[in-house]
Amino acid sequence: MMKIKALVGLDSKQEKERVLLGVEKIFFESSVKRTFKSPEEREAFLHKYLGWYAKNYPEYFFVAIDQNKSVHGYICGVPDTTKHPELSTLHPWFSEISEDFLEYQAHLHINCADVARGVGLGSTLLNVFENALRGKGIKGVHLVTAPDARNVGFYDKNGYKFRHDFLWNASPMLLMGKQL
Ligand SMILES: CC(C)(COP(=O)(O)OP(=O)(O)OC[C@H]1O[C@@H](n2cnc3c(N)ncnc32)[C@H](O)[C@@H]1OP(=O)(O)O)[C@@H](O)C(=O)NCCC(=O)NCCS
Repeated sequence: MMKIKALVGLDSKQEKERVLLGVEKIFFESSVKRTFKSPEEREAFLHKYLGWYAKNYPEYFFVAIDQNKSVHGYICGVPDTTKHPELSTLHPWFSEISEDFLEYQAHLHINCADVARGVGLGSTLLNVFENALRGKGIKGVHLVTAPDARNVGFYDKNGYKFRHDFLWNASPMLLMGKQL
């Protein structure tokens, strides 16, 4: 049986570290970038997609854990992007989409393990994250992907109907948003 837990709800520091290692494994399994020039570059990459969120918003960092304590997927994010100008340093393309943050303040990252895809876990994680944001004065939530990515259909079926195509360093990118 799969349980969805927030990082803040984990039993101990040890348990949190173990879970974060599982999250890291899924992150690299899902990432197009897997090789790094130095350990520092790898650390910085992890920080901008996982570490920053685990440190600042552990209550919005959810993990799916099975009965053997294996991690199958995670979602993390920030409830109000406009309150964190430092995120523009981590994600420089934020300058292209900052107007969208007025309607879709929350920002998310999600990944499921290879073996756990296509069975509804991603949709469950989105629901848990969105429910945690409801009643907190947040109007909407967004994510950034690529317009030709397979996951576009996943977000669309989960209600992410607002779309803003933009270019960053000549690469096409896509913001998708949902009102809460
Ligand atoms: C995208 C992802 C989080 C969706 O979670 P999920 O549990 O697989 O999704 P669900 O079972 O709720 O929904 C299935 C939909 O997910 C998408 N999906 C399924 N497998 C996928 C995969 N390997 N890669 C990308 N999207 C996938 C499809 O749109 C699928 O819908 P379809 O079967 O009608 O085409 C998950 O598949 C994943 O981690 N994919 C790889 C990494 C990724 O794209 N992360 C998001 C970065 S913005």
